[in-house]
Amino acid sequence: MCGIVGAIANVNIVPVLLEGLLRLEYRGYDSAGLVVTNHGLQRLRTTGRVTELSKLAAQQEAWGFAGIAHTRWATHGEPSERNAHPHLSEVESRVAVVHNGIIENHEEIRAHLKNQGFKFSSDTDTEVIAHLIAFKLRQTADLFKAVCLSIAELQGAYAIAVMEEAHPERIVAARNGAPLLIGLGKDGNYVASDSSALLQATRDIIYLEEGDVAELNSDGYRIVNCLHNQLGEVVERIVHESHLSNEAIELGPYAHFMQKEIFEQPSAVANTLEMVFNARSISPNLFGSEAEKIFSKTKHILILACGTSYHAGLVARYWMETVAGLPCNVEIASEYRYRDPIADPDTLVVGISQSGETADTLAALSYARKLGHQYSLAICNVPESALIRQTDLRFLTRAGPEIGVASTKAFTTQLASLLLLTVTLAKMRHQLSSESEHQMIAALRHLPAALQNALQVESQVKTWAKGFAKKHHALFLGRGVHYPIAMEGALKLKEISYIHAEAYAAGELKHGPLALVDSEMPVVAIAPNDQLLGKLKSNLQEVHARGGELYVFADADSQITPSEHLHVIRLAEHAGLLSPILHTIPLQLLAYHVALERGTDVDKPRNLAKAVTVE
Ligand code: G6P
Repeated sequence: MCGIVGAIANVNIVPVLLEGLLRLEYRGYDSAGLVVTNHGLQRLRTTGRVTELSKLAAQQEAWGFAGIAHTRWATHGEPSERNAHPHLSEVESRVAVVHNGIIENHEEIRAHLKNQGFKFSSDTDTEVIAHLIAFKLRQTADLFKAVCLSIAELQGAYAIAVMEEAHPERIVAARNGAPLLIGLGKDGNYVASDSSALLQATRDIIYLEEGDVAELNSDGYRIVNCLHNQLGEVVERIVHESHLSNEAIELGPYAHFMQKEIFEQPSAVANTLEMVFNARSISPNLFGSEAEKIFSKTKHILILACGTSYHAGLVARYWMETVAGLPCNVEIASEYRYRDPIADPDTLVVGISQSGETADTLAALSYARKLGHQYSLAICNVPESALIRQTDLRFLTRAGPEIGVASTKAFTTQLASLLLLTVTLAKMRHQLSSESEHQMIAALRHLPAALQNALQVESQVKTWAKGFAKKHHALFLGRGVHYPIAMEGALKLKEISYIHAEAYAAGELKHGPLALVDSEMPVVAIAPNDQLLGKLKSNLQEVHARGGELYVFADADSQITPSEHLHVIRLAEHAGLLSPILHTIPLQLLAYHVALERGTDVDKPRNLAKAVTVE
């Protein structure tokens, strides 16, 4: 989604802005722009990549001590130069704004401002902010106050950074519902939507809170909170040192971030489970100091999530029922938030999110609480995220930054975390003997090595990719706990190769999708040696008998022999509860290599964003 970087310093800030935008590219965007103050506001915008913006900056000799920059992912108005940020109000005071999020009452404000003589030159909701601030500058000559007065009239979720031509010595930034942070540097101060955008300048970060408005100069800053008072009250915020390493957000020897992240999974899972390995026993404290109390009251689980995180939740449902004996519902967050579900105070609501900023997941959790659910737990990859701050309990997947839009290591670390949650609840409910607990810890300890082993199938998967790349559709089949893994495999393929892919529970095949099967429809099946293998084999026969081309990921002991139109790749022997985690790997590799064959932009697939911070 959209990204913000701003800088005000004693040196030329254009290189910092451009590098910051490059580091934000992974979020997904369709246009980019910047404004710098250099004897007036100089604006550059492009519908191309950030490298295009850099070329423009070089051609036009952009230079300045202060500036704001943006990558836009279109919501209101098509991706075009006129809709790209920064937006300017040019009627009276020249004000420039960059914005992440959505202003819900933009039409109302636009109508009012048009009556006041403001002229609009884009289709965006953002432009109203620039004009509204310029309008407020009629009441007060102070940009900071004008921003405070303006945000009191804005509805929706946003993060903004603002500059005024008449006062190039300051940048004003405000946060409400979308992440924003400020960076304190040696040569100046910065604002960004993501700490990775500032690593080249500083590691001293202040995470703004809801309602915070900050003013930055080259040598200082102040923050007021406007949540309860239009003009704000001065607040102190803690300065955090970012430990994000450059290595974590750089490609290194890999061709793509997705490739890097697929191959990082053994270490990502090892980091996520490190505390369990060290403790040698499973304890509710891993989920927070209140966990023991809350878990002892838990009688149901409700999981809320979107996209890949939703698939992780679906896997957890099978585990919760089988291992912990707990009823478990899994809901798509964007659906849940508009239903009238019946709340139950004994339910633990679990929000799963890589970014911790997905608007629908955050809203669904708030809604669940409003309905009367008392306790919540976050499984999340970003420690400073809104989700982590919103829940009673939390468990961090320590996957490190995930840059590829298609989620990989976040998914497997979510699964590892959810399995840990399941066995913790099972233990508290006396469903796990101490012998089983030790076996479980031993299995988890072996998981990184087992993942490493699963990655060895890459060369075999590559041989399938060529044929696959020519197809327009694919079916993915799985049964039981591997059905959501088939869903995740289909999602990966469609996200990055743009091949239409659908997943079905294999038992559903004959209730419809079998009609689609012919030699042009590859059918991918996940065939672990579990109690449903016999049933699955019958489903595969149904495909085979109709001339379908089968691509089967089996366990070494699944006893499926390759034949004409039946291709088989074998993983290790069946891994019990860990099997869905391991069967994810070849599906990620398949999507990756098919996308390479098709020449798509693997890390930044068209139309998609990494963190979806709007509804
Ligand atoms: C976007 C991303 C997906 C992700 C989903 C949920 O659609 O492209 O990869 O699974 O959001 O994101 P979250 O950060 O909440 O896990």
